[in-house]
This record gives sequence, structure tokens and C-alpha cells, in this order.
Amino acid sequence: MAATRRPTGGEQAVHPPWDDSYRHGPAPWEIGAPQPSLAPLIESGAFVGPVLDAGCGTGEHAMALAARGYDVVGVDVAGTALAKARAVAADRGLTIEFVDGDALDLAPLGRRFASVLDCGLLHTLGADERPRYAASLASVTDPGAVAHILCFSDLGGPIGPHPIGENDIRAAFTAANGWELVEIAPAAIHTLIAKEPFAARLVTARRIAPTLAE
Ligand SMILES: C[S@@+](CC[C@H](N)C(=O)[O-])C[C@H]1O[C@@H](n2cnc3c(N)ncnc32)[C@H](O)[C@@H]1O
Repeated sequence: MAATRRPTGGEQAVHPPWDDSYRHGPAPWEIGAPQPSLAPLIESGAFVGPVLDAGCGTGEHAMALAARGYDVVGVDVAGTALAKARAVAADRGLTIEFVDGDALDLAPLGRRFASVLDCGLLHTLGADERPRYAASLASVTDPGAVAHILCFSDLGGPIGPHPIGENDIRAAFTAANGWELVEIAPAAIHTLIAKEPFAARLVTARRIAPTLAE
């Protein structure tokens, strides 16, 4: 499914193809643990299964969820990351489905999810892709599902490589795309490339009955 996709905004602007990020040692965001802004949500049971980890990378968040008993599916376009995720999950004795798929076109997965975790994917998408992504998430969730999204912010502490504004989030997660925003809270994203975490936002969106056809 992901093989025919077009490079996303972030890939065109900054990155070589996503898979390259994983071929030469840890990618900058592979901190070996869930992001501290997401860990409390995972530990407190804020997610409801089945959970979609959209842009799961090497699967650290999917694995943290699975270790707490959640049914999780990780989706990513980077085959190298998925291979690593599968190997580490097997080492840890965790059963997780890691799928090579495009988060902008999730319907072909043929799966339904009760919640979504996105750590670092939304902010890599271009302005035209973010609404498509929100609609794609809506295509695999039902009203009442919740999405928790950690993304770089354009305000606050050190600014990360793909900052997006609150208006960018509001423009994507609209009622027409099947979402209402519950909260946009200040957060942080830790990386291997900087001592200080980058400014981020933790977005909570609730799936509502959309105005578009399902
Ligand atoms: C910044 S990394 C974060 C990875 C992981 N969530 C983590 O926290 O370690 C963004 C991830 O999104 C993936 N990605 C980018 N565009 C995607 C798309 N259209 N569909 C699925 N995954 C995508 C990349 O391959 C990469 O693994």
C-alpha cells in the first residue's frame, strides 16, 4: 500500500525518503522509550484498544501499549523501522501487528480502532496533507474514538525541525473531517540530537459523526 505513495511535505522539505532515516543507526527520535509527554497517558490507561500507532517508527510507543495489554497496530512507511520494530517486539515477547501502510490512506487496512497515538507524524505532513490525514484517521475510527497526537510546536522552548501552529491543527481536525478538538496542551519532544527537549503540543481529538460520507 505504501509503495505507491507520493513523498509527503516533510520528506520533500527536509528528509530523504523516511526509510533512510533508519538505515544508519538510531534516528534522532529513537530515544529508546516512550516520549515523556505520552508515557503518563499510556501508563494511566488513557487509550482504549484497539489502538493505532500512526507513523509508529521502531514501535516504542506501540510496545509500551502492548506491554500494558493493549491490542495495537503500528503503521509506517519505513520498512527498515518496521523490521526493527518486529524484531524488538519479538525479543520482548510482545504480539503487535506492524504494517507497511500510508497514514494518509488507512481505509485499505480494513481495521477499526478505538484510539490513535501519533508521535511525530502530523508535524511532518504538508498543509494539504494534514486534513487528508485527519480524514484518513476518521476512516478507521468510529465516533467516540480519541486521538492523542504529539507534534512539534511553533511556540515555547527550542523549536523543532517541523514546527506547526495551533491553527494548522485546527484546520486539519475539523468537524467536516470527523473530529473535534478536546485539548491542545503544551508538551515536549525529546530527541538524541539536542540536550533540551523541543517545544511541542499534545493534541487530544475526539472522533465525531462527520459531515462527510463514511
Ligand atoms: C518523527 S518519526 C516518529 C516515529 C515514532 N512515532 C517515534 O515516536 O519514534 C515519524 C514517522 O512517521 C513515519 N511516516 C511519515 N509519513 C508517513 C505516512 N504517510 N504514513 C505512515 N507513516 C509515515 C516515518 O516513516 C517515521 O517513522
